[in-house]
Amino acid sequence: MSVAMDALNKRGFVPLYYQIQQTLLNRITSGELKEGDMLESEEELSRRYLVSRMTARQALQGLKAKGYAVSERGRGTFVMKPKLSKSILMLESFTEEIRKKGITPSSRLLQQKVSSPDPELAERLKLSPGDRILYLRRLRLANEVPLAIEESNIPLKRFQGLESIDFSTCSLYETMHDRYGIEFGWADETIEAMLAAADEAKLLTIPNRASLLCISRTLMASDGSPLEFALSRYRGDRYRASLRVTLSQAD
Ligand code: GLP
Repeated sequence: MSVAMDALNKRGFVPLYYQIQQTLLNRITSGELKEGDMLESEEELSRRYLVSRMTARQALQGLKAKGYAVSERGRGTFVMKPKLSKSILMLESFTEEIRKKGITPSSRLLQQKVSSPDPELAERLKLSPGDRILYLRRLRLANEVPLAIEESNIPLKRFQGLESIDFSTCSLYETMHDRYGIEFGWADETIEAMLAAADEAKLLTIPNRASLLCISRTLMASDGSPLEFALSRYRGDRYRASLRVTLSQAD
């Protein structure tokens, strides 16, 4: 980008730091600057734009606060893409959630098999002895970037023939709803932090022992019967959980 295009409007009302911040932001959102690229230092920015170092620092700080940059001690400031915010109060499928953000979801099927549940899973899914489940392990991607590994366990007596559906292309929840007429009720979830094991790190293209956001979900139909027990491991560098908390009602 030429210096002329980077020139600031020094007579207007828009603060200089903000103009620099927006210029950098445009270069990031347009794809000119990619994730991991090093941004110019405070000193370089102050020379390029003829502003004080304080102004340059403020511009970089603004970018960091928005989640578009991260500083690494002794190395510099690097471009980062902001985390996707996952609303944990919405009962959504991965497909819906990613589509809503204007991104394209996809899946890589890691495993799909019919099996017998262990006693703990049988209890969670209220299964009787001899009942079988479909076990599904998928790598979930958004715009081809791996975001999560999801393991789902689904009772087959409620979903006969589910095992022959190709879940590398189909949405599980769409199938449950459209093909089996399921009305979803609610889900009980727990969230915890975990470290990525070597195989998970490889699939998610993150370093070994990087942080994961692990959400377990027991999904219920509107009649209260269990439909799925799932473990989802989201990349900690890509996801954050968000929720609205309200005041508890006074008695
Ligand atoms: C979410 C849930 C999973 C569920 C998945 C279904 O990610 N946490 O428990 O299995 O959605 O997604 P899809 O309908 O896209 O297959």
